[in-house]
Amino acid sequence: MSTENFSLSFSEALEKAGAGEKPAVDWLVPLLTCSREDESRLFGAADKVREACVGKAVHLRGLIEFSNHCRKNCAYCGLRRDNLEVERYRLEIDALVQTALEAKSLGYHSVVLQSGEDPWYTPERLAEAIREIKAKTELAITLSVGERDENTYRLWREAGADRFLLRIETTDEELFARLHPDDDLSERMDCLRSLKKLDYQLGSGVMVGLPGQTPEMLAKDIIWLKELGAEMIGVGPFISHPDTPLSGEKGGTVEQTLRLVAVLRLVFPYAHLPATTALGSLDDRGREKALETGANVMMPNVTPIDNRAKYQIYPGKICLADDARHCRGCIEGRIKSIGRTMGTDRGDVHRK
Ligand code: 5AD
Ligand code: SF4
Ligand code: FES
Repeated sequence: MSTENFSLSFSEALEKAGAGEKPAVDWLVPLLTCSREDESRLFGAADKVREACVGKAVHLRGLIEFSNHCRKNCAYCGLRRDNLEVERYRLEIDALVQTALEAKSLGYHSVVLQSGEDPWYTPERLAEAIREIKAKTELAITLSVGERDENTYRLWREAGADRFLLRIETTDEELFARLHPDDDLSERMDCLRSLKKLDYQLGSGVMVGLPGQTPEMLAKDIIWLKELGAEMIGVGPFISHPDTPLSGEKGGTVEQTLRLVAVLRLVFPYAHLPATTALGSLDDRGREKALETGANVMMPNVTPIDNRAKYQIYPGKICLADDARHCRGCIEGRIKSIGRTMGTDRGDVHRK
C-alpha cells in the first residue's frame, strides 16, 4: 500500500473523527498510531464523547465462566483442546443457575454466560439454564459461547437470552486463518449476521497486537464492525500463553489498546465498550485507564472461586484468588476512585 493513503496528519484525522465521518482507513490509521504527545488529545476527545453520549455510569456485567471445555484449537488461547495442561471443569445446569442467582444477590443486573465451545452444552441444555434464570430473576443475559447454527441461536433467544458476544478477533483473512485452524472467517461473519437478524444486542471485538497484525488491519476491523452494526465492542491486548503455539510471541500493549478504545468511542458514540480484564491483567490501572479513554462497562468475575484458575485463556489473569463479593467491592472502589458512578439498571444498548 502506498504511504499516500495515510498521509493525513493527526489533527486532520481527529477532525474527521470528531465530525462523525464514515470510518475510513486514511484517518483511522493516524489515530491508531498517534504519538505520545498526540495521545492526550485523542483520549480527551473520546472521554468527552463518552460523557456526552453514554454518561458517567459504568455498567456492570457479572461474568460466569461456566465451562472451560473447548472443541476448538485457536492458536492464541490457553483453553484450546490440545492444551493438556488445563484441568477441565463445567458448571452443569443447576450450578450455572445458582451462580447467576448469586450474581443477582450481589446486586448485578446483568450476567454474561461464557464458555469454551463445549458440546456437552447442547442447545436444549443451555436453553434450560436460560429459562430458569429468567424465571427466577430479571437479569439481562448475555451469551458468549462461540459459533453455533442459526436455529440454536434462535432457540436461546426465544429462551430469553438478550445479548450475544462473539469476537471476530481479526477481519484479515490470512491472519484469521492462521489463528483459527477450525474456523472460517466468512462463517464467523455469518454467525454475527444471524445474531443481528435474531435481534440480539450484538457484541463483537478484536484482540490487539496479534502476531502479524498491522494498524491497517485494525482500521479495517473497525470499518467492518461499523457495517455489521455492533452495539458492544470488547477489545483487549493479545497476551502470549506459554502452552500454545504462540508461546514467546510479543503481545499487545496497554497503549495500543487504549488508542483503539478511544477510536472506537469516536466511531461508535453510543456503544457499550468494556474496560476488559486483559487490560487489567497487564496494568493494575489498565481498566480505569480504559474508562477514561472511552469505555463504560466492566465485567467483574463471578465464577465460583474453585474454578477461576482453570479459566486461563491467557497467563497473568487477575482475580484468580478473589471471590465474587471481593471483586464486586474492588470494582466499585475503582469506579468511584475516578469519579464515575455505578449503572443502576440492566444497561441495555442505546438504539436511536
Ligand atoms: N490473550 C488475550 N485475549 C485472548 N483471548 C483468547 N486468548 C487470548 C490471549 N491469549 C480472548 C479472545 C476471546 C476472548 C474470550 O478472549 O478474543 O474472544
Ligand atoms: Fe475455544 Fe474460545 Fe479459546 Fe478458541 S478462543 S480455543 S473457541 S475458548
Ligand atoms: Fe477482582 Fe479487583 S476485580 S480483585
